[in-house]
Amino acid sequence: MNNTPQYQCPLCKNVLSFNERTFSCVNNHCFDLAKEGYVNLLPVQFKHSKEPGDNKAMVNARRAFLDKGYYQPLVNQLISLYQKFGNLSGNVFDAGCGEGFYTHQHKHPDNCVYGIDIAKEAVKKAAKRYRDCHFSVGTLSQLPFNDNHFDWIVSIYAPILEAEFTRVLKENGYLLTVTPAKLHLTQLKQKIYHEAKEHDIEKEPIEHLTLIHQENISYSMALESGEDVLNLLSMTPFAFKASEDVKQQLNKTNNFICQADFQIRLYKK
Ligand SMILES: C[S@@+](CC[C@H](N)C(=O)[O-])C[C@H]1O[C@@H](n2cnc3c(N)ncnc32)[C@H](O)[C@@H]1O
Ligand SMILES: [Zn+2]
Repeated sequence: MNNTPQYQCPLCKNVLSFNERTFSCVNNHCFDLAKEGYVNLLPVQFKHSKEPGDNKAMVNARRAFLDKGYYQPLVNQLISLYQKFGNLSGNVFDAGCGEGFYTHQHKHPDNCVYGIDIAKEAVKKAAKRYRDCHFSVGTLSQLPFNDNHFDWIVSIYAPILEAEFTRVLKENGYLLTVTPAKLHLTQLKQKIYHEAKEHDIEKEPIEHLTLIHQENISYSMALESGEDVLNLLSMTPFAFKASEDVKQQLNKTNNFICQADFQIRLYKK
C-alpha cells in the first residue's frame, strides 16, 4: 500500500504532492511537514479562534488518562467489530483524533491511517508518538481529502459532520461512531450536579448513510487515584462546572468507581 499521505489543498481543492518536506498544489500553496511529523492544513481564515479545540492542559490530561487503559475495553470491542466487517483495510480516517490513542490502534501493516484534529497541541503529540499514522491539523467541516477516499471513518466522542464525512467516504465505506450512552460517567456527574442527568442517546441525525449495526458497551471502572479522576473530569464537557471544593475532594479519592457507557454505531454508504 502506498504510504505517502494523499491530501487535497484546503485552499483550492487541487491535489497536494509531497516533495522533500513540503506538500504543495499546482497553485503553489505550500504546507510544510513539522518536525513532529504532522502537517498543518488549517488556513488561518478557517480558524474561529486563536487556539481552537482542546488546549495543552486538556490534551495532557487526556493522554495521561487514556494511557492508564481505562478505555481499552472499548478499543477491544471495536477491534472485534472490525473483524466482522472487512478488517479495516484501505484508507482509514480518525475524525477528531485528539492525541492519537484510538488512531494508532487502527493501524495495520497494509492500511493507511489518517487522523485530523483542529487542536494543534493534540496533533503534535499524536504525530510525535505514532509515526506510522498520518496526522494533520484541520477542520472536520472542510476536510482536506478528495471525494470517495476512505474505506472507514471513525468518530470517537468528536463532532460528526455528515455531509463532509459522506463526501470523503467511498461507496460501501463505513462510518463508525462512538458517543456517550445513558450512564456514561454518571458517578462523576453526580459529584458535580446534584442530580446527574442521563445522557440522551437519541439516534444521531445521520440521514444519508444506512445504520447497519449498533451496540452498547458498559462497564465499571475503579479509578486508582485522584489524579486519574481529575484527568477524566477535564476530558468532559462538564469540567467547567466543577467548583474548586469538588475538585479538591475528587483529588483525595482512591478507587473511585465510575461507569463507562458507550454507544457504538456502524453506518454504511
Ligand atoms: C472529546 S475529544 C475526543 C478526541 C479523541 N477522539 C478521543 O476520544 O480521545 C473531541 C476532539 O474533537 C476535536 N474537534 C472539535 N471540533 C473539531 C473540528 N471542527 N474539526 C476538527 N476537530 C475538532 C477537539 O479538538 C477534540 O480533540
Ligand atoms: Zn492550492
